[in-house]
Amino acid sequence: MSDYILEMKDVVFEYPGGIRALKGISLAIEKGKKSVILGPNGAGKSTLFLHFNGILKPKSGRVFYQGEEIRYSRTSLINLRKNVGIVFQDPETQLFAGSVFQEVSFGPMNLHLPLPEVEKKVEESLKAMGIEKLKERPIHFLSYGQKKRVSIADVLAMEPDVLIFDEPTAYLDPKHAEKIMDILDELHARGKQIILSTHDVNIAYSWADYVFVIKDGMVLGNGTPQEIFQDNKILEEADLKKPFLLDIYDVLREKGFFFDRLPRNICDLRNICDLRRDEMVMNSALLILVHGSRAEGSQKMVFEIAEKLKRKGEYQDVEVAYLQFNHPDLAESVERLVENGIAEIITVPAFLFQGIHVIKDIPMELKKVKDRYPKVRIALANPIGYDDRICDVISDRAKGRLIEIC
Ligand SMILES: Nc1ncnc2c1ncn2[C@@H]1O[C@H](COP(=O)(O)OP(=O)(O)O)[C@@H](O)[C@H]1O
Ligand SMILES: [Mg+2]
Repeated sequence: MSDYILEMKDVVFEYPGGIRALKGISLAIEKGKKSVILGPNGAGKSTLFLHFNGILKPKSGRVFYQGEEIRYSRTSLINLRKNVGIVFQDPETQLFAGSVFQEVSFGPMNLHLPLPEVEKKVEESLKAMGIEKLKERPIHFLSYGQKKRVSIADVLAMEPDVLIFDEPTAYLDPKHAEKIMDILDELHARGKQIILSTHDVNIAYSWADYVFVIKDGMVLGNGTPQEIFQDNKILEEADLKKPFLLDIYDVLREKGFFFDRLPRNICDLRNICDLRRDEMVMNSALLILVHGSRAEGSQKMVFEIAEKLKRKGEYQDVEVAYLQFNHPDLAESVERLVENGIAEIITVPAFLFQGIHVIKDIPMELKKVKDRYPKVRIALANPIGYDDRICDVISDRAKGRLIEIC
């Protein structure tokens, strides 16, 4: 058994007058994947779809259904069309009967099924589209959105395994477009294979499991939505814009939000943004400034603290930098963090004695670093262990001196 429900190999198609609409298309649609053919107007999407149920025959090349090459005899085509249903872009061109019932029952009637069975199929398809009440209505009294639903019910009544939608949201207002997309999701959840074409990058990005980008009758690329929509070269070549969600994503990342994945839809994005800012894994690091030498084993405690903070996961990274007299290795640590994609560095001086003169140099050192990395946000937090209590401890120790030497 093939892993692909529909496949094309080197398909070339010309309309009368020599218009070459498909210029050697090869693609394979994987079973169970919500697949989108994405391309600008005139790319060849509708022409491609008409090959999938044998309405058009390639000039050269081959088309396969379930791994078997499509044949164009009458019986083969009738069989193929039972399995592969197409919902056309414009319902006006698809609907021809007087009433909704007559329209949707036409296919099952043609299969010479008994009337009660035909009625059952019609009822079920109308119900799936939420238009049971329109059953007796004349088609020409329906709104565009209602006609669109009837055209889908039309195809559903034939119970095909594969449902192909040519630009299903074209000419629909955003609310109706969303409803249609919900219906497609429902059909997918009920085990139907759904393939759609669109020029709408937002729909393709949010809905698809897999995307084929076509333009001028050729496939420019294929991949998961995450792969395709982060590939600026393909988008440019195909005259496609970035999905708005990815524009928002880019802005948020610039502002320091760290995402562990690309948000696929508004709901996804909201979930991420709903998290409290201080609970989020930000694209920021903590830099602990301590006094001493890297070589000294005395820094063990600081390292343990840094490890603990790292494990808490509130920061992308936790580093320790050293102040040695007036030679802090701050710049080195910052460079390492910036190279790792950190956008915000919070510096916390720790365990520095009050008397050490470099303390007052810290803001100056940080300013130098900021000048080198103007895009990185740098903050200085209150020092810890740098307060009068340390003085008290020292003077207590001094009072309780053990031995007096000479
Ligand atoms: N019936 C036709 N006769 C002649 N040329 C056509 C016909 N239908 C489409 N074309 C041409 O074929 C190319 C692909 O069209 P089409 O498959 O409709 O693209 P899409 O669906 O991506 O907008 C376009 O250049 C279009 O002008
Ligand atoms: Mg089209």
